[in-house]
Amino acid sequence: MQLTVIGVGPGDSELITVKAVRMIKEADIILVPVKKEGSTKSTALDIAKKYIEDMDKVLYLYFPMINLEQNKDYVESIFKKHGENINQQLQEGKKIVYLTLGDPMIYCTFTYISEYFEKVNYIPGIPSFLNGAAISRKPLCIERESMAVVNMTDDEDKIKMVFDIHDSIVVMKVCANQKLLKELINEGKRSVTFLTNIGLDNEYITEDINYLNEKVPYFTIGIVR
Ligand SMILES: C[S@@+](CC[C@H](N)C(=O)[O-])C[C@H]1O[C@@H](n2cnc3c(N)ncnc32)[C@H](O)[C@@H]1O
Repeated sequence: MQLTVIGVGPGDSELITVKAVRMIKEADIILVPVKKEGSTKSTALDIAKKYIEDMDKVLYLYFPMINLEQNKDYVESIFKKHGENINQQLQEGKKIVYLTLGDPMIYCTFTYISEYFEKVNYIPGIPSFLNGAAISRKPLCIERESMAVVNMTDDEDKIKMVFDIHDSIVVMKVCANQKLLKELINEGKRSVTFLTNIGLDNEYITEDINYLNEKVPYFTIGIVR
């Protein structure tokens, strides 16, 4: 049996593919990553819940949100255990799906354990920034323009280079370096739309750069033009 990683989209339960819904309904086991050991809190699960007929099929997988390099042995032992457990269930013939927010190819926790599986099937989901662009009603690219996706946890020099080169910049994990982001938007006289909790409770959208003066929620993207 094969493991299928499903992107459930950014928040709105209707922004999920027909194929994803079918595979969730057909699954024997539904894996859901959580940030704290013993936690059952998951945004991906909240989005997919209305398509899950039996909540007993849900298994929570703990993914420690600590520095991976500094805690390499500890983190790897947890990932290895997840890999072994899932492989055992696959050998028993179970259909297993793994739910992830947005799209599985954009900053997804599953990447950390993918090496333990021979073959994985991926079902794409709508990433937060494509839903964000639709909500803001502004195209990301037109004519010859280019677009980049940056992660504010990346090196400052690299982020600066991206701002120098591209017409549109999608900024993920905004909360990781708000000071630099504010500087780059102001220096380049760029326009920006911030979108927080897209499709979730407390959705908030603003074009005000001063939004960066206070710590923004983790689920925030910026679309810079
Ligand atoms: C670990 S990444 C997950 C990205 C996800 N796989 C995707 O395709 O959008 C988490 C970051 O994605 C962005 N994000 C994900 N979902 C969001 C949402 N509903 N609203 C705003 N930002 C979101 C935020 O920038 C957040 O810091």
